[in-house]
Amino acid sequence: MEEEIKQLKKFFQTSFAKCNSLADLDGLQQNFLGRKGFLTLLFKNLVNLDVNLRGKYGKGLNQVKKSFADLLTQKKQELESKGRQEQMKSEFYDFTLPSHQDPYGSLHPISLISYELEDIFSAMGFEIMDGPHMESDYYNFEALNFPIDHPARDMQDTFYLDNNLLLRTQTSAIQIRAMEMHKPPLRVVGPGKVFRAERVDASHSPVFHQIEGIMVDRQISVANMIYFLKMVLGKIFKEEVQTRIRPGYFPFVEPGFEMEMKCLICSGKGCSACKNAGWVEILGCGLVHPNVLGKVGVDAKSYSGFAFGVGIDRLAMMRYNIADIRLLHGGDLRLAYQFSIPRGNHK
Ligand code: PHE
Repeated sequence: MEEEIKQLKKFFQTSFAKCNSLADLDGLQQNFLGRKGFLTLLFKNLVNLDVNLRGKYGKGLNQVKKSFADLLTQKKQELESKGRQEQMKSEFYDFTLPSHQDPYGSLHPISLISYELEDIFSAMGFEIMDGPHMESDYYNFEALNFPIDHPARDMQDTFYLDNNLLLRTQTSAIQIRAMEMHKPPLRVVGPGKVFRAERVDASHSPVFHQIEGIMVDRQISVANMIYFLKMVLGKIFKEEVQTRIRPGYFPFVEPGFEMEMKCLICSGKGCSACKNAGWVEILGCGLVHPNVLGKVGVDAKSYSGFAFGVGIDRLAMMRYNIADIRLLHGGDLRLAYQFSIPRGNHK
């Protein structure tokens, strides 16, 4: 027994010296102190000994067991604390670094342009009016001189709702609301979303934005209108923009026109935003049709007026050099962040 204990101690020492991971330690523990471990076997052999020797070696074995267990525990603590230190080194965080800096949120380019337009128009004495997105057939079509079976309705297909309303196709509905509210002379603009059942492409979207304007007074002429609109475009683009005007049909104006501006994205050379025309249709305009004035009880013999509807999305595209309308409506943060203010740069 004496010899066996000696051998066991030696064996333990060499194994222990090679042990440098928690897994190794676990193995060692199993091999020596486990249920079928070497030490346990020796304990079992005690029964074969003489009774008085049994006590002696029993005690000796218990001491060995304790010394092994102590060594193992000590080593385990060492290894654990070394592991923690290494982990701390590899996972070092510098808590004094500034945090991740997302830029501040900002207004969407469409809102930026809309607010700017509102400023320009209110500086010229225009009232800003709102209208509902869900509109009645009367305001969107009927009162604007599109009778129920008139083929002109085909130009503006929309989404008809179950409640007898429709999604407005044009902010022109606001013209009627404005004239119902105010007797002439009046100047009103109405910006907002409009909807059309249209196929999506680089310059068309089923949801887009317009700003409507109407001015009714005595002796308002086409010349007044053209001068006015060119001036407004100049204010928006902060330079004189090249425009051209051609006849356009809208049932609620007579005569009616479409105003185009030279494409600022390609400088008139032709691109996807202007469908290679070099010009973009930016607004519809004309003198308010006498039938429309009649509908709202304005005497067409004493008063005349002009109205216009500007596509805000197209203005934003020209202004910020955005070649595809889908970018404006896609919700892609890479577009939005170009308009936001980086942290640290705000006043
Ligand atoms: N409402 C017309 C459109 O959506 C634009 C327009 C407005 C034309 C006012 C003339 C006068 O196309």
